[in-house]
Amino acid sequence: MTYLETYQKTAISTFTAQNGLYGNYGGRYVPPVLEDKLQHLREQFFLCQNDPEFISEFHRILKEFTGRPSPLYFARRLSEYVGSAIYLKREDLNHTGSHKINNTIGQILLAARMGKRSVIAETGAGQHGVATATAAAFMGMKCKVFMGAEDASRQSMNVRRMELLGAEVVTTSLGRGTLKDAVDAALGYYIENPDSYYLLGSQVGPDPYPEMVGFFQSVIGNEARQQILEKENRLPDNLFACIGGGYNAIGLFGAFLNDDSVSIHAAEGGGAGPFLHETAATLCMGRPGVFQGTYSYALMDENDQVVPTRSVAAGLDYPGVSPQHASLKDSGRATYHLITDREAIEAFELLSRLEGIIPAIESSHAVALAMKMLEGQKDQLSIINLSGRGDKDVGRNF
Ligand SMILES: Cc1ncc(COP(=O)(O)O)c(C=O)c1O
Repeated sequence: MTYLETYQKTAISTFTAQNGLYGNYGGRYVPPVLEDKLQHLREQFFLCQNDPEFISEFHRILKEFTGRPSPLYFARRLSEYVGSAIYLKREDLNHTGSHKINNTIGQILLAARMGKRSVIAETGAGQHGVATATAAAFMGMKCKVFMGAEDASRQSMNVRRMELLGAEVVTTSLGRGTLKDAVDAALGYYIENPDSYYLLGSQVGPDPYPEMVGFFQSVIGNEARQQILEKENRLPDNLFACIGGGYNAIGLFGAFLNDDSVSIHAAEGGGAGPFLHETAATLCMGRPGVFQGTYSYALMDENDQVVPTRSVAAGLDYPGVSPQHASLKDSGRATYHLITDREAIEAFELLSRLEGIIPAIESSHAVALAMKMLEGQKDQLSIINLSGRGDKDVGRNF
């Protein structure tokens, strides 16, 4: 019986994964050679997740090596500009410059527990590649990172960082040379070398990855919830995050999903606008289907073929998305919005000038969405997940 058939026979909570499923979505659609490996990975993850020693080691490294907890920062001048209170969850201040390090530390510990000596990864903006290369150096493991040729050229500083950290960067010129092509190349390598550890970098792919990376990123929302209660003595009215694969967003949203008073919004990489082939807004413009090992939304044409995407943000330039977000969209618990390249670039420049914080172009989509949705609304309390810093984007000619 497939995962989907199992789901259809049972009523399952929308918010948490049950047997690798989020409502209708998720599962494990992989060749038989990977099935046992992924089942073994699920079992090992379950053991670690329930092992207090593993969890305390994970948190100790997040504190001492990556600098957690990340601050929840009141953005005074942005708040004045918009007309209501906005806090930024400063994932940009983490070691390596984004939320990605939370997951790579978790997975490298897991890989070490499983006796692995080398890891492979895919990367879009290069942030996950850098975070994986960092975690591999930290653990003394070999690291191979697959990256699309277009991304390697527009995020060249991160290619150099990965190499400095001792990783081998394998560029692929498949397709448009973006994240989807990097995932295809990494999956292809994994199928041929199933004994390597695939350190996946978002809430996508087959079970158990969505649940596992969601768990490692849940530190973001758990901290933010405690921090906003300490600072404001109440929960926020709104949460905002950008969404590519979806794990910085679920990292923040996860801790608030059961708080009905908190509205939850995510910004997709809209590219040139709502036109297939010119956008990466998967939840706004796509439909359900199986893609890269999981059942979720994907950007497809009328023949069910996944189409190339376009976004100024390499980290959002992907035609798939997390099955948990697919489920949250269908249930209406979270809303998903298309933010164009132009809107994101304006927010990138605005936040830099107003706050002295240069955001990653990915995170700028979340800032743009917050500004749009909060316009004319007073007395709102909001948190924007600032998923990464913009050093990698300053040399680009937007
Ligand atoms: C800074 C930053 N934010 C967001 C993303 C999007 O990924 P996700 O939606 O999985 O958090 C990326 C991906 O590379 C990124 O580098």
